[in-house]
Amino acid sequence: MKHPLRLALLAVSLVLPLALSGPHARADQAAAPAKVPTLYERVGGYDAISAVVEELVARLAADDKVGRFWAHRGEDGIRREKQLVKSFIAEAAGGPIAYPGRTNPVSHKGMRIDAEDWKRMMAHLDAILTDFKVPPREHKDVMAFIDSTRKDIVEKK
Ligand code: HEM
Repeated sequence: MKHPLRLALLAVSLVLPLALSGPHARADQAAAPAKVPTLYERVGGYDAISAVVEELVARLAADDKVGRFWAHRGEDGIRREKQLVKSFIAEAAGGPIAYPGRTNPVSHKGMRIDAEDWKRMMAHLDAILTDFKVPPREHKDVMAFIDSTRKDIVEKK
């Protein structure tokens, strides 16, 4: 008669490979979708977005035309605005953030932001993304996303 331990080992060696490659294992592999990284992940997450927004608002405030929108504004109001802009972009880029602010048409209505303001804002953003060495694909995607919000913000030709 065969040794009971050898029988047990034989049973395990037959059953284990079946269990590992059984229906569950296959279903799991098939169900796992190929994960496409979000723009949020590709640009480096919240800290990268935060750094760009800080720099952008600083350059806009110092701009001799667009700067008028930040003249005489309180420090805390600007801090609040920057926080909201960061959350807005982080959420739109697919990050784990829920933007709690107003819509762009509501928050910019009546400011009379014009085409030249927009051009300058985009030029500052372009320069910052270059200075921060954001890779070309992400640079292009960020520019395209921000430009897609123009219709909600620009009121004057
Ligand atoms: C030339 C372009 C822009 C100018 C001059 C501008 C100006 C301003 C100003 C002055 C505020 C403060 C409003 C307030 O406290 O009541 C503000 C708020 C805000 N802006 Fe802009 N903005 C521009 C473009 C953008 C863009 C491109 C975005 C996002 C893609 C954006 C997102 C926001 C958000 C999320 C807020 C806060 C909204 C809230 O208070 O609920 N802005 N903007």
